[in-house]
Amino acid sequence: MWRESFRQSRGSRMSKGKIVIVGAGMHSAMLIEILEMNDFSIVGLTDPSKSKHGASVCGYPVLGGDEILPSLLSSGVSGAVVGIGGTRAEACLARKMIFEKLIDMNFSVPELIHPSAFVSKRAKVGRAAQILAGAIVQANALLKDNVLINAGAIVEHDCVISNHAVLGSGAVLCGAVSVGEASHVGAGATVRQSVLVGRSATIAMGAAVIRDVEDFSTVLGVPARNKAKEEVSK
Ligand SMILES: CC(C)(COP(=O)(O)OP(=O)(O)OC[C@H]1O[C@@H](n2cnc3c(N)ncnc32)[C@H](O)[C@@H]1OP(=O)(O)O)[C@@H](O)C(=O)NCCC(=O)NCCS
Repeated sequence: MWRESFRQSRGSRMSKGKIVIVGAGMHSAMLIEILEMNDFSIVGLTDPSKSKHGASVCGYPVLGGDEILPSLLSSGVSGAVVGIGGTRAEACLARKMIFEKLIDMNFSVPELIHPSAFVSKRAKVGRAAQILAGAIVQANALLKDNVLINAGAIVEHDCVISNHAVLGSGAVLCGAVSVGEASHVGAGATVRQSVLVGRSATIAMGAAVIRDVEDFSTVLGVPARNKAKEEVSK
């Protein structure tokens, strides 16, 4: 549906409306490019860090903290997107908090799919999903709400990715993998077919995951093994 509206918009160049990016991290630059390609009118970004206020990202201003969101909404900025990416499960929880706040405030939070990504027509994509350049989502995959699939990641057939989970760049989920809520699969990690990844788990960069991953655990290496909590800093 989104890809259909994308094609229509290229002909008419009609703005899809005003939108704000919530979180001015490095991830936000990639969202800006997708939003520009889709004729959204970006008013700027918000970020809790005062040191970023007045700065800009790709030419768009960091307007202030999240406290300005109600006034943006009442001035006609009806769209918002989650602007932070992340490198571990804790960041997935931060993405969850922002998403839930935006939904509670009645912002429209669109899904963002880079035009170079392939998303099977037999895949299902939930609200506010972000699928970046070159990612592949195969048939019968299910991506739930606020999922982030970074550049070049591959979600094979029949995978289920729960709310707020993140795949790092180039991560590969073989078929029928299940990733729990707010878990992070590191860049370049590979997860064997039919493995269950629990919730709020972190899979390190480059790991080869061959067994199920417990909730709240961190796994590292080839093959991936549990890393004791005290060995991995917060
Ligand atoms: C696993 C991870 C979360 C650990 O981060 P951290 O808590 O800062 O850990 P540290 O860098 O302090 O390293 C702790 C130990 O884990 C090891 N380690 C860290 N990352 C590792 C990895 N990817 N594979 C194997 N071992 C790793 C370190 O060598 C160190 O081992 P030591 O105690 O024997 O010296 C992090 O390295 C990681 O892989 N994050 C994912 C990043 C990512 O995918 N980003 C995606 C952007 S699109």
